[in-house]
Amino acid sequence: MFLFPLSRFSFNLSGIVDKFRIVGGQPLHGRVSISGAKNSALPCMAAALLTPETVTLHNIPYVRDIITQRRLLEDIGATVLTPELRTHKITASHVEVFEAPYELVKTMRASVLALGPLLARFGKAKVSLPGGCAIGTRPIDLHLSGFEKFGANVKLEAGNVVARAPADGRLCAADVHFSKVTVTGTENLMMAATLARGTTTLRNAAREPEIVDLADLLNKMGARVNGAGTETIQIEGVEALGGAEHTIIPDRIETGTFIVAAALTCGELEIKDCRPDHLESVISQLRRAGVLIQELNPNTLQVSCPQGVNAGDVSTAPYPAFPTDMQAQYMVLMTQARGRSEIIETVFENRFMHASELQRMGAQIQIDGRSAIVDGPTPLTGARVIASDLRASASLVLAGLIAKGETMIDRVYHIDRGYEKIEAKLLAVGAEIERIRALVTTGQLQEVQPIVETV
Ligand code: EPZ
Repeated sequence: MFLFPLSRFSFNLSGIVDKFRIVGGQPLHGRVSISGAKNSALPCMAAALLTPETVTLHNIPYVRDIITQRRLLEDIGATVLTPELRTHKITASHVEVFEAPYELVKTMRASVLALGPLLARFGKAKVSLPGGCAIGTRPIDLHLSGFEKFGANVKLEAGNVVARAPADGRLCAADVHFSKVTVTGTENLMMAATLARGTTTLRNAAREPEIVDLADLLNKMGARVNGAGTETIQIEGVEALGGAEHTIIPDRIETGTFIVAAALTCGELEIKDCRPDHLESVISQLRRAGVLIQELNPNTLQVSCPQGVNAGDVSTAPYPAFPTDMQAQYMVLMTQARGRSEIIETVFENRFMHASELQRMGAQIQIDGRSAIVDGPTPLTGARVIASDLRASASLVLAGLIAKGETMIDRVYHIDRGYEKIEAKLLAVGAEIERIRALVTTGQLQEVQPIVETV
């Protein structure tokens, strides 16, 4: 039985705050293994609430959001066993609580994924309305209007979403057209539809690989989901779902992050245990810029960039277009590209916060609403910077890898949410990076010894 050493993570367990210290200039060489996709593991863990039988998930990434999701499931009444670090056996046979409390939802919006399964199986659910976050207001109106189309009564009470199924306790299938592509909205309604009476159609559905991975798990549990990965998904409701065993797909955003790391540092990386077919738009954009990316086999990439990169415009959009979760990483690369690039962020309204920190390191970036103009190549200089959200913190790590001198990154708990042992993986391929743990006791910051993790 593997018990997560919660203190491993840099969140305020007892006033622990971690930072990264990076000295730039080391080209990365060697092999890196990609972990499971956080954004698939989270809905798949929630799907275990749909059945009293055990759902076994392999290749779960060892990241902070998984800890939070596990605590949520256990608070609801499920048991979560971890026979080894990246395997979770989840059994929701004795659920007594049908809600996701504020203190968990405020730290992780994906807690709203408990809504669909609880409502579908138990006919009721109460989830704290997730507030916005650094990158945007992040409403869930499309989730809620979808549940109402399933016949649920959805009310807002004291900051909570309180949802009830129709009188007989069972949702009714519906024809739902999303006015905007929403990843977790598609996942929430797809899970709810598996136990609804009749056949549901989701139109303008999200097409991300994580949607397909969730549908694969649901079908292993006995659901009848068709069309996942396309914009129209049909789900024929069944009476009950059973247990299953499933392996989570690799993390396409971690993969993209390491491709950029190899290109930026003019090194050469073999990136294994990945799915290149899940990030074709990223690979083609980076190849156009001059990054050499070779597929050694369906799960392994060889990346180098001997000639440096040329500027290239990009606009983020839902899958299969260039993902918003790679926008910050791409921006760092364009600071080193020859020429002027325009990066347009169409998904979230406030996802350029990394730009101001990169400017402090010397980057030439002009922000105008949803557009960022990046001029390169500009040499970066190490500085003390602050992470603001998960992918912004990844971009600051990338910048530190090439900046002249030392970069200190505060609030690395953001990066621990979605990257498994990133400093250990980078250290193993030649980066000069260490995690500095600081204890906050009575408001005083006392730095302790660096922590060196091995992969
Ligand atoms: C998922 O968030 C991911 N999170 C995000 O990854 C990712 O950036 C995002 O999809 C877009 O790809 C998880 O899967 C856990 P959306 P999600 O609903 O589902 C608007 C990371 O870094 N919208 O697809 O919350 C919304 O405001 C994280 O790993 C509504 O208006 O995103 C946004 O503008 C960050 N109403 C757009 O749709 C709704 O009800 C896309 O949001 C729902 C969404």
